[in-house]
Amino acid sequence: MTGADPAGVWSSPGRANLIGEHTDYNDGFVLPFAIDRRTFVALDTREDGRIRVASTFDGAVAEVALDELDDLFPDRRGDVPEWATYPLGVAWALLRTTGVAADAVTGVDLAIASEVPVGAGLSSSAAIEGSVASALNETWGLGLDRVALAQAGRLAENEAVGAPTGIMDQMASMLGQPDAAIFLDCRSLDTDVVDLGFAEAGLALVVIDTQVEHSHATGGYRERRAACELGARTMGVPALRDLTVDDLPRAATLLDDVTFRRVRHVVTEDQRVLDTVRVLREEGPRAIGDLLVASHASMRDDFEISVPELDTAVEAALRAGAIGARMTGGGFGGAAIALVPHADVQAVTDAAAAAFEASGFRAPHVFTVTPSAGARRDA
Ligand code: GLA
Repeated sequence: MTGADPAGVWSSPGRANLIGEHTDYNDGFVLPFAIDRRTFVALDTREDGRIRVASTFDGAVAEVALDELDDLFPDRRGDVPEWATYPLGVAWALLRTTGVAADAVTGVDLAIASEVPVGAGLSSSAAIEGSVASALNETWGLGLDRVALAQAGRLAENEAVGAPTGIMDQMASMLGQPDAAIFLDCRSLDTDVVDLGFAEAGLALVVIDTQVEHSHATGGYRERRAACELGARTMGVPALRDLTVDDLPRAATLLDDVTFRRVRHVVTEDQRVLDTVRVLREEGPRAIGDLLVASHASMRDDFEISVPELDTAVEAALRAGAIGARMTGGGFGGAAIALVPHADVQAVTDAAAAAFEASGFRAPHVFTVTPSAGARRDA
């Protein structure tokens, strides 16, 4: 932006969630992994106490004084382009959580370039947050660890952007490891690295991006959260994490039908995450297919966050040889993932395209992803 060499380049990846959907904001378990598509931010310092952001998302540049961030969020967020609320929101969240004064840190120019498809359910937002948080943490000498940076990213997303999401995406983007998933307890924020071993098992992870756009700031996501909170309140527990499948018969007598099915999804999904971690460790990735399929059915029938395109993607993948498949992310659009033997990747790709065409849907984007490293400094 200034034409000068940037003071540094940082990056953070998108994520795919292997299993554990809509469990994070219920204090439950998730098993996401970082993918090999990243968002890069080049940072240069400036002397006038302002923050300026430019990106490959559009031609617009957003600029604000650091000491005006508090006025911008949340009430005047509409003054900047929506994508800019992510990087500016992270700057705001970092200053707010650390209590560092805006005039105690240097101004910055940030140039953002992303390889993570937007709206595909692969958390392009957490990739922006992770890269910007890493860059500012180092440049401003804040000394925050990766979990604290993930928390700042979530604060930005919840309060600055205004999307009531959990912390899974930010944790996956910050903490991802090559060839592994991150088993996260969303209550304690304890993590465990779980080897995936897809390549050794002759498997590929195929993403079928339906091209159906979704937003977590509106509608369905918020409603599901509210139903979960109602379910927990009625059952007399702090969060649905505190229920097990043994509590479901009692839940069925206390809750209305819709709330019960929302609760049943979360409670059984938490159990499926625990089962997936155990099966991965004991038997390897070829044995987790049924758990992925059961997760999709639960989201389709109980949580009701799938759409016909996602169901079609999952069914086509399974028919063409996938070991397991499910929608990933918040739902209402976005992508499905399929665990596929190498030899069947082309067949799954073709089957998804053919099934979409036959149903009159827009052609899907189909590609493979590799479990990869989390946030880092690149230059
Ligand atoms: C979105 C949110 C996450 C999580 C998932 C559903 O990706 O950002 O926090 O709630 O949906 O599992």
